[in-house]
Amino acid sequence: MLIRTIIVVLISLMPIGAFAMHPEAQYGGTEEISNLDVLVTRYSDETCKECHEEIYAEWKESYHSQSVVHSIGGLRNFIVHGVEKGWNAEITKEHLMRCMDCHAPQLQDASKSLIRDVAELIKKTVDAQDEDAKEKLAKLNVNCVICHNTKVSIEKNLKGKPKPGVYYGPKGKSTTWLKKAGFSATRAHGTERSAAVTSALFCGQCHGMYTPPDGDIIGCNTLYGSYQDAYRGNGGTETCQDCHMRAKNRGHRFPGAYEKDIVKDGIGVDAQVIGLNIKPGTWIPTIIARVSLTNKAGHRIPDG
Ligand code: HEC
Ligand code: HEC
Ligand code: HEC
Ligand code: HEC
Ligand code: HEC
Repeated sequence: MLIRTIIVVLISLMPIGAFAMHPEAQYGGTEEISNLDVLVTRYSDETCKECHEEIYAEWKESYHSQSVVHSIGGLRNFIVHGVEKGWNAEITKEHLMRCMDCHAPQLQDASKSLIRDVAELIKKTVDAQDEDAKEKLAKLNVNCVICHNTKVSIEKNLKGKPKPGVYYGPKGKSTTWLKKAGFSATRAHGTERSAAVTSALFCGQCHGMYTPPDGDIIGCNTLYGSYQDAYRGNGGTETCQDCHMRAKNRGHRFPGAYEKDIVKDGIGVDAQVIGLNIKPGTWIPTIIARVSLTNKAGHRIPDG
């Protein structure tokens, strides 16, 4: 309480204008958007970093912050070889959302023309090594608003869609004091507790086999299935958040296959080494090593 009071006092002493550096995010809205910058602003993470600086820095290091540009080769091949050559069709929203439902869910609000623009940017980035195009695409990712609002739609107690300007978290701590301290409506956001956010299913929405509305199957990763069947099914109790966020204070960095630290955690090495002499006459020392590797991750590794 004391800390909070001090912060309120400090904040009240600051000119309100000090926080007005970024364009106001336009949360919510249902109309389709044709301009990439407007779409990015609707789901902006820019304001979050003012107050959640550490979490923002962690997230920025994670692959969630690069979920389009890091998978760009695969996305380009899907458009060029899958849609254009394979199906002999022009890209539509239904096509692109087969990938973007997980790689950039923001595009659910995009108009037909913006979907075509994004497909062009993907092709330009790979085929013409166009850095401007890549920079634009880098703003589409799995960000704070996607996880703490859009993808909370699986919350059982939620009536209707997630509310614009409300961020759902594990505790739902009150932020009313921010309003009193004079923050604008978009910065002094509401909070609600969501049990779903801390569940494995929350991550499983994107980390598992995907069935688009037409019944096709997309398996660019299959990890949630093995988590459920092989890990939980055999008595495993930890959630994705336990191992990937809470353990070792990993927070929002979400380390995976690219980070030595967590890869080491996943592999158990049981080595038995016996020294012996095979030919006592010539005295050739020999070692028999029996090494067994066990998977200690909560799912199959590698993924895919
Ligand atoms: C159900 C959600 C989901 C859908 C749908 C989906 N992806 Fe993915 N994709 C993921 C996740 C999660 C990863 C990271 C998996 C991992 O690293 O274990 C990933 C990884 C990738 C990678 C590899 C990135 C790397 O690590 O090098 C490529 C490429 C990719 N996806 C392309 C696509 C394309 C193309 C489509 C559409 C045809 C698509 N994805 C559809 C969730 C999805
Ligand atoms: C991939 C999904 C995902 C993304 C992206 C994400 N978060 Fe989270 N966040 C979570 C989950 C899951 C938890 C709950 C962790 C737990 O239960 O230990 C959480 C917890 C939090 C908390 C509560 C922390 C606490 O200690 O009480 C805050 C605040 C938060 N996130 C803010 C942000 C901000 C700001 C961003 C963007 C910079 C962000 N999150 C991006 C999934 C995400
Ligand atoms: C003006 C400061 C401010 C800004 C800007 C801000 N937050 Fe917060 N946020 C807070 C405060 C204060 C809390 C209360 C928890 C605490 O004291 O850490 C909080 C709590 C949260 C929580 C956790 C709720 C829980 O479970 O306890 C989430 C999630 C969250 N914010 C997401 C966001 C996202 C996403 C953005 C950007 C779109 C954002 N915040 C921008 C100040 C801010
Ligand atoms: C909106 C979809 C979405 C949600 C929700 C989501 N992820 Fe991801 N995640 C992705 C995508 C897409 C990638 C791959 C990014 C890339 O490499 O292109 C990824 C990457 C990762 C990676 C790095 C993978 C690697 O190969 O190293 C880890 C670890 C991870 N996610 C864990 C989690 C956990 C834990 C949760 C739940 C708290 C979660 N994710 C929720 C979409 C999601
Ligand atoms: C018991 C701890 C544990 C649990 C539970 C767990 N993980 Fe992992 N996970 C790991 C470890 C350790 C690794 C690193 C192993 C490796 O990739 O070699 C890993 C790797 C990953 C990777 C990268 C895989 C790859 O090969 O590309 C992703 C993505 C991931 N986990 C997501 C999840 C999601 C989503 C869940 C929940 C459905 C989950 N994890 C549950 C420990 C866990």
